[in-house]
Amino acid sequence: MLKHLFTIDSNKILDIDLTGIDLQRVPVHVAIIMDGNGRWANIRGKARTFGHQAGAETLKAIVKVANCIGVKIITAYAFSTENWKRPVSEVDFLMNLLGGYLTNEIEEFNKNGVQLRFIGSRRGLPDEILRKMDYAAAVTERNTGIILNLAINYGGRDEILYAVKTIATAAVAGQIDVDNIDTNIFEEHLYTKGLPAPDLLIRPGGDMRISNFLLWQIAYTEIWITDIYWPDFTQEYFIEAIKAYQRRERRFGGL
Ligand code: IPE
Ligand code: IPE
Ligand code: MG
Repeated sequence: MLKHLFTIDSNKILDIDLTGIDLQRVPVHVAIIMDGNGRWANIRGKARTFGHQAGAETLKAIVKVANCIGVKIITAYAFSTENWKRPVSEVDFLMNLLGGYLTNEIEEFNKNGVQLRFIGSRRGLPDEILRKMDYAAAVTERNTGIILNLAINYGGRDEILYAVKTIATAAVAGQIDVDNIDTNIFEEHLYTKGLPAPDLLIRPGGDMRISNFLLWQIAYTEIWITDIYWPDFTQEYFIEAIKAYQRRERRFGGL
């Protein structure tokens, strides 16, 4: 396979094959359901936690390649509102992994100009995690590269209910006229306020479902699913997904 050394500036160097990619038509916003960590570990005879650790490494590589080719936003599903149903030991491990990630990766994110943001409910998250999230968002806020939007304690239904409650409260207080509630006003009350809808949704792990991710936002998002488990998802697979996206014809209900 032909390899290209692709450079945008000295901080962003990538050694992968970009043949066939139209760099003028890269999706602005890519959403990823980072799934398959547990199965990846299982087939190796290891604990599920080992898979989560490997998955965290994958995310770094994917953010790097996305940043290089000009993707503006990655929204990555890290922990759903339903993932609390898992054994306490696994939930604790995931929270610790996230805490460590937020502490250890800040320097690297700053070096690459990555802006960290978070979507999801703060309710139920440990105080220490909330503090680290706030800190990570604050110290990367002025970076001008890709936005890494981490979905933590995120659920699409929870988000829609949050928007409905906030809008209803404003309506009762006379701040919003019910007749004026439209798509724009609704979107201003979602966790993703200010961000465009994802152009592409990637789901590794092979399951053909949405699992409560970005329910409102993905109305016209292109979906790409692969059987590859998230820890095995390389930069090359990301490029493959982008190429598949570029072959699609988006009609948005028109002709
Ligand atoms: C995704 O991997 C990570 C989280 C949901 C936190 P899983 O843990 O769901 O892995 P599988 O789907 O069981 O293989
Ligand atoms: C979706 O994966 C959530 C994350 C990747 C964080 P799940 O493993 O929780 O989804 P289901 O249970 O297979 O639908
Ligand atoms: Mg899963």
